[in-house]
Amino acid sequence: MSATARKSAPLPDDIRARKGGTPIVSLTAYTTPMAELMDGICDFVLVGDSVGMVLHGLQSTLGVTMEMMILHGQAVRRGLKASMLVMDMPFGSYEESPQQACRNAARIMAETAAGAVKLEGGVAMADTIAFLVARGIPVMAHIGLTPQSINTLGGYRVQGRGAEAEALLADARAVTQAGAFAVVLEKVPETLANRITSEVTIPTIGIGASSGCDGQILVVDDMLGLFTAFKPKFVKRYAHLGEAARAAIQDYANEVHDRRFPGPEHVFADKAPVKTGPAKTTPEQTA
Ligand code: KIV
Repeated sequence: MSATARKSAPLPDDIRARKGGTPIVSLTAYTTPMAELMDGICDFVLVGDSVGMVLHGLQSTLGVTMEMMILHGQAVRRGLKASMLVMDMPFGSYEESPQQACRNAARIMAETAAGAVKLEGGVAMADTIAFLVARGIPVMAHIGLTPQSINTLGGYRVQGRGAEAEALLADARAVTQAGAFAVVLEKVPETLANRITSEVTIPTIGIGASSGCDGQILVVDDMLGLFTAFKPKFVKRYAHLGEAARAAIQDYANEVHDRRFPGPEHVFADKAPVKTGPAKTTPEQTA
């Protein structure tokens, strides 16, 4: 069954209500054109702090700033009408105290017109989540592999295997109790993801988790084959746009070297052609 495009953006409560229902579809986006491509197909679009690695060439998400997030959030906002915008809170913008989190979340919401923020952490962040929700800021939680904590998690390894499972269940329960409207489960064993999904009352959004989650998310540049520095096991490439782009760039370079580009159709005559139809206004139509 193919997914039909939405007509208007859901609210966090609409996402919460999808628990156990039609799977929730989401991707990341960082720019207006990419947001336009997924508008109405995705239920929500996340401006993830993965932007630091995917678009800015950083080694991890730790160097992503509030300013970077807000700039990309505003760009994505301009591309969305029928998908909800969710904004990641960057490393260092919320961990210190609920008050710090509230100040920065409010700024993100005000400057990007997002529907919600996402932050990483389970039990440790429960008070902060409750504080934000009580002040009108919808929160999506993110547990399991939380990339902002790679330095204490032992790198990008699977989280929740063996004895760790109970701690992850406790995280899922804590963020649910605190009022998060959904929770991202990243890189956790399939059986544990299924168990969490059946135990908590909010939707689970899987990335490297299970098809049994209430929804799925991927980094758009990963699934389109645009980001190829590495490929986690959980990424499925639905296209190979990076290869296509490189081939096109090579074709362009060859044609420039051979003076085949620009062709006669790309250059301008001394005299403007006589206009016959309505006035042309777009730059590419200007003769
Ligand atoms: O930053 C990100 O892109 C994310 C997800 C993919 C869940 O947090």
